[in-house]
Amino acid sequence: MKVLVTDPIAEPGLDRLREAGHTVETAYDVTGDALHAAVADANALVVRSGTDVTEELFATAEELVIVGRAGIGVDNIDIDAATEAGVIVANAPEGNVRAAAEHTVAMTFAAARSIPQAHARLKTGEWAKSDYLGTELNGATLGIVGFGRVGQEVAKKLDGLGMNLVAYDPYISEERAANLGAELVELDECLASADVLTLHTPLTPETENLIAEDELAALDGGYLINCARGGVVDEAVLAAAVEDGPLAGAAIDVYAEEPLSSDSPLLDVEDVIVTPHLGASTHAAQENVATSIADQVLAAFESKPVMNA
Ligand code: NAD
Ligand code: MLT
Repeated sequence: MKVLVTDPIAEPGLDRLREAGHTVETAYDVTGDALHAAVADANALVVRSGTDVTEELFATAEELVIVGRAGIGVDNIDIDAATEAGVIVANAPEGNVRAAAEHTVAMTFAAARSIPQAHARLKTGEWAKSDYLGTELNGATLGIVGFGRVGQEVAKKLDGLGMNLVAYDPYISEERAANLGAELVELDECLASADVLTLHTPLTPETENLIAEDELAALDGGYLINCARGGVVDEAVLAAAVEDGPLAGAAIDVYAEEPLSSDSPLLDVEDVIVTPHLGASTHAAQENVATSIADQVLAAFESKPVMNA
């Protein structure tokens, strides 16, 4: 069988597929006609967030049995088109949860203590000690929007640092939140009480632009952290809210369009900290998701049950 891998995944995942006797072809940074040509005879396609798996791609890929997402979010895969084409879509929902939660904690500290801004100035020789008076997380309130795997892991870590926790998630129980020390509240209460608001929802029609002008106004004086998905927060409105508006700062890892364009308004605002979708980028997480998705491709080839399909 031919496995086409169009976004870089860790070598142990590729080795697992080769050791099972399959042909692994990598085609990174390939788009348009070249991508269509590469997928035409593929039996499996493995992606991260860099490949848009569209209806047109499914129409070309007549031999495809499974699309494996080496990570959590499947918003770059047209699920309806996959269903129509009879192709399994599977993800790796566990392997990068700790990495994403750790990046969220790092971004929270970066924003609350202006670490990248102070670092950049000291690197140019400026001792700007008196310009940075940070926010102490101990005793501050963390609002968590989306209390799934990553949101809960962030809650555990920041609870340990003495933050008060409130969470908004219409699909979980009060008991589940309370077990992790969080009070389950409506979105308006979450925004009003949070000093730091962190987003951990998938991107769906319901969450697209969930955080816009009114929501940022309600977060008055706070910080917004987004290590979930671009599109959940309106980027132009966010840039303005930090530059001249109600927010103290923001730290963003994910964008509506990736890679982020060099003319994004987010790049013009000093107190908007940005990283290039690094939430899952640890050695451990990448090995976990690569081997997990390889196992699922092998299961599909052997007509065994595919986990997380
Ligand atoms: P999950 O499915 O375990 O949790 C998502 C939670 O969001 C669920 O509890 C769900 O009930 C909740 N939710 C859904 N719609 C909602 C709404 N309208 N309002 C509030 N809550 C809502 O997913 P996860 O593993 O925790 O991942 C969370 C997000 O983080 C996903 O978007 C994932 O793609 C992203 N992610 C990003 C990185 C990165 O590299 N930056 C790494 C891992 C995960
Ligand atoms: C995910 O949803 O798992 C993330 O986007 C991680 C990634 O693959 O970069």
